[in-house]
Amino acid sequence: MRLGILGSGSGSNMQAILDGVADGSIPATIALVMTENPQGYILERARKAGIPTALIDCRGFKSKFPEEAQAETAAALKEAGVDVVCLAGFMRLVKKPLLEAFPDRILNIHPALLPAFPGLQAWRQALEAGVKETGCTVHYVDGGMDTGPVILQGKVPVLEGDTPESLHERILEAEHRIYPEAIRIVARKLAVPAPGM
Ligand code: GAR
Repeated sequence: MRLGILGSGSGSNMQAILDGVADGSIPATIALVMTENPQGYILERARKAGIPTALIDCRGFKSKFPEEAQAETAAALKEAGVDVVCLAGFMRLVKKPLLEAFPDRILNIHPALLPAFPGLQAWRQALEAGVKETGCTVHYVDGGMDTGPVILQGKVPVLEGDTPESLHERILEAEHRIYPEAIRIVARKLAVPAPGM
């Protein structure tokens, strides 16, 4: 299985996937890492590991992922022979051109127990809502904002005295456990021939 990873920031989830690939616990290779953020540490991490990288051209758009850029991204992923796309801290909404190029083959990690707290800074939302437990979710991407069938979730307690930063840190540790596991689940599913084949 060849993975394409899209991320916008520090890339710690990409690193967790990379580590799983390197120690053989994830039956896949990372074919390409793409980002719209030339300053993102994810680029540095990928380069250090010798993984091909490419920039997504969203210049002139602060948060949008224009259709043309989505089509170019899909073409680059196809060109790299990617089977499954993993969004790892990717902060733009994936729409039609990419979804059509990779139907049911785009995964996302979100820092909350979806459907609770979709959108930005979900750890802060959880803290402000006063919940005792939050977590993270890996799900298939369906074009909505953090919607789509759930593959795996990890629970994380909210502790007395937590700040947004300390809570996010604890959630990230859970993310780094469940994303590799979710990829293993998807790999097993894709390896099973469809009935009648
Ligand atoms: C992670 O907490 C991820 O779940 C979140 O951004 C962080 C990226 O960290 N993603 C979202 O909020 C997307 N809705 P990373 O770059 O170190 O993997």
